[in-house]
Amino acid sequence: MSTNKRKILVCGGTGCISSDSEGIIKNLELELKNNGQEENAQVVKVGCFGFCGQGPIVKVEPDNVFYVRVSPDDAKDIVEQHIIGGDYVERILFVDPLSNQRIHDYKDMSFYAKQHRVALRNCGEIDPENIEDYIANKGYEALKKCLTEYSRDEVINIIKESGLRGRGGGGFPTGLKWEITKKSRDGEQKYVICNADEGDPGAFMDRSILEGDAHSVIEAMAIGAYAMGAQNGVVYIRAEYPLAIHRLMIAMQQAKEKGFLGKNIFGTDFNFDIEIRYGAGAFVCGEETALIHSVEGHRGEPTVKPPFPSESGLKGQPTCVNNVETLANVPAIILNGSKWFSDIGTEKSKGTKVFALAGKINNIGLVEVPMGTTLREIVYDIGGGILGGHKFKAVQTGGPSGGVITEADLDTPIDYESLKSIGSMMGSGGMIVLDETDCMVNIAKFYLEFTQDESCGKCTPCRVGTKRMYEILDRITKGQGKPEDIDNLLELGEMIKSSALCGLGQTAPNPVLSTIKYFRDEYEDHINKHYCKTGKCKDLVKYTIDPEKCIGCTACARVCPVGCIAGEVKKVHVIDQEKCIKCGACFDACKFNAVVKP
Ligand SMILES: Cc1cc2nc3c(=O)[nH]c(=O)nc-3n(C[C@H](O)[C@H](O)[C@H](O)COP(=O)(O)O)c2cc1C
Ligand code: SF4
Ligand code: SF4
Ligand code: SF4
Ligand code: FES
Repeated sequence: MSTNKRKILVCGGTGCISSDSEGIIKNLELELKNNGQEENAQVVKVGCFGFCGQGPIVKVEPDNVFYVRVSPDDAKDIVEQHIIGGDYVERILFVDPLSNQRIHDYKDMSFYAKQHRVALRNCGEIDPENIEDYIANKGYEALKKCLTEYSRDEVINIIKESGLRGRGGGGFPTGLKWEITKKSRDGEQKYVICNADEGDPGAFMDRSILEGDAHSVIEAMAIGAYAMGAQNGVVYIRAEYPLAIHRLMIAMQQAKEKGFLGKNIFGTDFNFDIEIRYGAGAFVCGEETALIHSVEGHRGEPTVKPPFPSESGLKGQPTCVNNVETLANVPAIILNGSKWFSDIGTEKSKGTKVFALAGKINNIGLVEVPMGTTLREIVYDIGGGILGGHKFKAVQTGGPSGGVITEADLDTPIDYESLKSIGSMMGSGGMIVLDETDCMVNIAKFYLEFTQDESCGKCTPCRVGTKRMYEILDRITKGQGKPEDIDNLLELGEMIKSSALCGLGQTAPNPVLSTIKYFRDEYEDHINKHYCKTGKCKDLVKYTIDPEKCIGCTACARVCPVGCIAGEVKKVHVIDQEKCIKCGACFDACKFNAVVKP
């Protein structure tokens, strides 16, 4: 192990802070001081490492040692054993779920081996609250290069040639969007907007980037503003992201003090400033026209496109809306060149994509992989396989707008087109892994409940249609489905997709349509046999006691929260079905397998 001055990087992302990573920092600093080690090691609070499921994370550099599930009490051993003694603190090293081995070198962690961090390049590497750290990592060099070496068209061409496409869900070519906005009423007031609304349930890519590397987003907005001829920028961020907002504010203040925001940036005649606007957490406000209305102080309702924001956006002026992750790629593309970026990925989808990997998977967290990586690689190589040794069932990509991908398509290389062709979509990057214990009708119902709740109500197909679809699904999960329900869902779904005003309604039926496509038998079981094979639909579960097996031990009666199990000691017990709330406690309590469910 190296004995040069070490850096002890401690995760300061929301996930790890909620597990007291700040207590770890405090104790590490105290231990270094008490042991006279302040000259030998420095504690740095960094952004999210991505491996949030194993947090709080501490990484020691240059040794490349990655400690997981660290507590403030571990600070003493990290300093005494590792910093002073040059030895690993074995008990907090990551244990590989497949080999069951403790991993000593970060590079050997399968979670990271296939990742390629471009948008997340500085997360977990730099102190996001210290602009000097960003500058030391070539921060603001791309902006300087653009302002002093490239014309506006040259910047746009670099982004176009890189093949970067919007990471907010639509996949629209970013350079082309910049070009259209530049050409639209050139010379007039224009705006660049960073979309940090991030409303997909379970997604936190954009939050992590802003918490861990807000400067890269600020720098990218300035580059885009220069190229398009804008002088004002807005970051639209949900108010539920207080840490991201805090770090963004610090970064903006520091950028202003350094002259990277404000007037005559890098001694040129380019002026650019950014303001922050807060969203109240409505999913629809992530849609760009709704977002613009919300920024203007109106109701966050979408409007018909065209006109697109690039023609008529904020205050009626040409406006470019870009997603956080899209922007985070921009400085790296400018510095490394368009070819460097376009060499990563597939023919039509260049670069990398960040996914929030969650659900029934061993390694939960943020992963950034080259486009073209297969789902199998993400689920098994990076994700470490299915939790608890269960059987893989499907992956839901694209959140409430996407669909399920089954075993048969696990080897599909992920890009915008391939996901669409198998009935799902990239979306903003939510990826929920489902196993054999998940009921697909219930999953579809969950997403539809979300979208019908979030529907702004402006157009009838979405407002009424999603409600009707939800009601049908609700009935099916309660054992009241009708034979015609599947056809009705398919018909309604297609109708809503083709007639809803905005992307929310146009994609809302996707989870239902794709689960019917791949798991129709589960729908049929619920409707025709009143049977949910996973037992997730509680109304379809009926607990009974097998008189052949019951020995009258009374354990079930003692745990039943509503007292609906009758029976004397050593006599067969009976459940009162009228009173049973289907909690399953008796099932778990019976050691004789006498409580049965279908
Ligand atoms: C219902 C709905 C919600 C959306 N939410 C977001 C969001 O949270 N973040 C985002 O960047 N884009 C979101 N979008 C896409 C935006 O409308 C827009 O296409 C995107 O911000 C453009 O940036 P990009 O080209 O960099 O992807 C949403 C779209 C719809 C229809
Ligand atoms: S599709 Fe839904 S969210 Fe979009 S405008 Fe219509 S009602 Fe509103
Ligand atoms: S716990 Fe099982 S064996 Fe005991 S009384 Fe209940 S059903 Fe019968
Ligand atoms: S499922 Fe719950 S409520 Fe029903 S009998 Fe068993 S313990 Fe009682
Ligand atoms: S929040 Fe700490 S690793 Fe993600």
